[in-house]
Amino acid sequence: MEKQQQNQPHLLDVQNLYVNFHTPDGIVTAVNDLNFTLDAGQTLGIVGESGSGKSQTAFALMGLLAPNGKVSGSALFNGTQLVNLPTAQLNNIRAEQIAMIFQDPMTSLNPYMKIGEQLMEVLMLHKGYDKKTAFDESVKMLDAVKMPEAKKRMGMYPHEFSGGMRQRVMIAMALLCRPKLLIADEPTTALDVTVQAQIMTLLNELKQEFNTAIIMITHDLGVVAGICDQVLVMYAGRTMEYGTAEQIFYHPTHPYSLGLMEAIPRLDGKHDSLVTIPGNPPNLLHLPAGCPFSPRCRYAAEQCKTAPKLTALSEGHLRNCWLPATQFEGRTL
Ligand SMILES: Nc1ncnc2c1ncn2[C@@H]1O[C@H](COP(=O)(O)OP(=O)(O)O)[C@@H](O)[C@H]1O
Ligand SMILES: [Mg+2]
Repeated sequence: MEKQQQNQPHLLDVQNLYVNFHTPDGIVTAVNDLNFTLDAGQTLGIVGESGSGKSQTAFALMGLLAPNGKVSGSALFNGTQLVNLPTAQLNNIRAEQIAMIFQDPMTSLNPYMKIGEQLMEVLMLHKGYDKKTAFDESVKMLDAVKMPEAKKRMGMYPHEFSGGMRQRVMIAMALLCRPKLLIADEPTTALDVTVQAQIMTLLNELKQEFNTAIIMITHDLGVVAGICDQVLVMYAGRTMEYGTAEQIFYHPTHPYSLGLMEAIPRLDGKHDSLVTIPGNPPNLLHLPAGCPFSPRCRYAAEQCKTAPKLTALSEGHLRNCWLPATQFEGRTL
């Protein structure tokens, strides 16, 4: 594996990433020219409605695409090109340097094995630890994810845990090998709001403790509000807006970002019912001409019938919209 740390300062540098699926009806471009970077210990939020290409982006990086999917472009991780990396090398990176957690922990946990055994197995397999060291390390990691009575819980089965506690186990398992990057794909979507907030706070603490970079994937901008350094807003596989958390949350300049913000469920009762962006995400096989969001955009104008280009508004703040950014000034919630 070639290391290029000197000229490659970012932990992850994604350039011109595409994911194309070959289907009987034609080619579906689920990820369309994505560019982003991530540094050690930083959190990037990838946000967009269902179907916008968030998971496929993660799968492309992890080499987990469905067989009809093809990835192109570049994703340099710590100097290693992840795109089309041979499986053997990917397996090493996946186990030890990049970990992923999903919405439903039950898909990743073995229901017939005690939690402790599952954690210890990871360490014995990948780190060559003996049983005793693996046990102690596993308990330590359960403590780190704030699992009460960690030692006792080692002997319990997944079904004996609540949803939130199971997600803590998954986080512990993901961090056991001290990965440099954790990809969390909607990790709290199945949990209630209070538990969601606890898990997000926990991830934020762990990020600092272990200096892990995090890609936090979610459809709910509200979930990532407090924990991201950078935010990438995705729609129809493309970047709609990309910037620091400050830029996206306090100076959003894309109508889609504004729509996502209005859709954040609020606890203050300001909205009686859940606000959603009118209309549905597009069928990727029949994209509208021009800006893919234009049919649902309340600000759409004639020029939106041709596709805008992603352009820099200010240092590090990119937007994919024809309309003047000033039109959206002060439009935060
Ligand atoms: N195996 C597949 N074959 C064809 N299209 C697919 C396949 N997997 C995903 N897609 C397409 O990719 C789009 C984006 O999917 P995904 O990344 O899972 O969205 P999300 O943002 O909800 O995570 C889907 O809407 C679908 O059109
Ligand atoms: Mg998804």
